[in-house]
Amino acid sequence: MERTLSIIKPDAVERDLIQKIKDEFLNNSFKIVNERKIHITKQEAEKFYKVHETKPFYSDLCDYLSSGPIVVMILEKENAILDNRKLMGATNPTEAEEGTIRKKYGISIDKNSVHGSDSLDNAKIEINFFFKD
Ligand code: CMP
Repeated sequence: MERTLSIIKPDAVERDLIQKIKDEFLNNSFKIVNERKIHITKQEAEKFYKVHETKPFYSDLCDYLSSGPIVVMILEKENAILDNRKLMGATNPTEAEEGTIRKKYGISIDKNSVHGSDSLDNAKIEINFFFKD
């Protein structure tokens, strides 16, 4: 069994999509091991997205993730990391395949509704970031 971190981002929480997105995971054999609805500060968002600190979109990205409530979840299944990335679809909703979460619900590359860990190492770091104990 593998675990990955998933975030339902502010644009999706704001549009009441929490349950719809959770159902996407549950209907695709993911177990939601733990979840928290939180509102993080910009400083926390900067720490979370530190891998992107040299990117031109870093500041806007951190403003955005801290702009409203989010839902952070630990998802579990075999091949959870890759399967979650497939289920989410491409980062930019306009490039995401039909049926994926970002195609269905994403608004733009920033407001793309969900985040998912991209590797085993990052999944461990990201899970530990939000679920320390
Ligand atoms: P996420 O999977 O949360 O990881 C970093 C986020 O940066 C990404 O989703 C996008 O929402 C956001 N982002 C904004 N601009 C870009 C870009 N040009 N390329 C990649 N990600 C971007």
